[in-house]
Amino acid sequence: MDKIVIEGGKSLKGSVKVSGAKNAALPILAACLLTGGRHSLRSIPHLRDIQTIKSIMSKLGVTFRDGKEGLEVSSDNLTGCEAPYDLVKTMRASVLLLGPLLARYGKARISLPGGCAIGARPINLHLKALVAMGVDMYLDRGYVNARVDRLKGADIFFDIPTVTGTENIMMAAVTASGQTVLNNAAKEPEIQDLARMLRGMGADIQGDGSDTITISGVRDLRPARHTIIPDRIEAGTLMIAGAMTGGEVKVEGCMPSHLEALTEKLVSTGARIEVGHDSVVVKGPDIIKSVDIKTMPFPGFPTDLQAQFMAFMCIAKGRSMIRESVFENRFIHVSELKRMGADIEINGNQALVKGQNRLLPAPVMATDLRASASLVLAGLVAEGGRTEVQRIYHLDRGYEGLENKFKHLGAAIWREKG
Ligand code: EPU
Repeated sequence: MDKIVIEGGKSLKGSVKVSGAKNAALPILAACLLTGGRHSLRSIPHLRDIQTIKSIMSKLGVTFRDGKEGLEVSSDNLTGCEAPYDLVKTMRASVLLLGPLLARYGKARISLPGGCAIGARPINLHLKALVAMGVDMYLDRGYVNARVDRLKGADIFFDIPTVTGTENIMMAAVTASGQTVLNNAAKEPEIQDLARMLRGMGADIQGDGSDTITISGVRDLRPARHTIIPDRIEAGTLMIAGAMTGGEVKVEGCMPSHLEALTEKLVSTGARIEVGHDSVVVKGPDIIKSVDIKTMPFPGFPTDLQAQFMAFMCIAKGRSMIRESVFENRFIHVSELKRMGADIEINGNQALVKGQNRLLPAPVMATDLRASASLVLAGLVAEGGRTEVQRIYHLDRGYEGLENKFKHLGAAIWREKG
């Protein structure tokens, strides 16, 4: 198994470009199932999760080709409607195929994703909304079997704003009969990106980016050309790295309006930030002040940056209270950070980080995608030896060549094949 090796202690300096957003690319690829013809997608990142959804879609008969206009996706002749367990268990976002398959074919068989390292993560809200749209469903040996003649519009209320739930039902609703209203919808930028793709295909969607999204079903869709938004979580990880190493990093090709919650917190730590049109420059603080955070749905502080910010707070002056309010079990990185000398106490969904001026190098193990990124960040500041981050396949699910980006900024970091 590959590992990442870091000799920490270098301040990062220079500019780095952000890749396309994984969590926007996944639903947008799924949306290509909604109609035949050739879609062209630019800025699809090269990631393991993208490979996984492409593998499932290939099994359904979709073809992919790298063309002049980006990735060309054709789903003229669908040959199946099943997302199998062996692939779904490696990526929960496979559930995003349910809405488009029902919209196009009126049937789908999708493995239930099962447990997850960061929380129970049920999909009950996706399923409840589909039932309200007329879908018949039954569970058989771990698979959801769903069938409908034609989806019908419905008034849906999500108990919790769910990102992939909102996306799934938006895709189901675009060709449903009548109007669908999604109340308490998620407001993440990835939802707006999917809405832009769907409008490019001829869908009638309003209100995305707010908590009420209205979709009026249309009869026909057409293939679209679309450029995926930049990955705000990758951008945020690079910004934290710049601040944490006391460096000066320009993160290029990002959307600063997607990063406001993090920017505000970084400024409170003493970092200096210059916000450009599509870039952010982060200069590390002389003395890192500790700051409290609470994760929230967008536009609040993203749960997907909690682990990375915690690594930063491990070397701040003072105590930082970190509250995780989106997932119930997203502190598994804590025990690995402790192996690097961090002083952190967990109490339910709160972690009290007692900052100290250094972290120590150690062999550590990645447990999920964002936890891996936090361990890499910790390794960048751990002086006096090598930090080895094992099980790096988690990192490859969602970061495109992260170690190369850090190397380009001056870090002593490399991958060792195992
Ligand atoms: N929830 C339910 N029932 C549902 C759906 C969600 O109870 O049917 C709960 C979840 O258990 C969680 C909360 O609602 O406590 C919010 O979960 P949400 O559905 O919004 O999460 P998701 O759609 O499964 C996406 C991202 C995650 C990101 C979360 C929160 C994708 C593919 N995944 O997951 O990204 O953490 O939203 O912003 O978009 C990552 O990239 O590392 C990652 C985990």
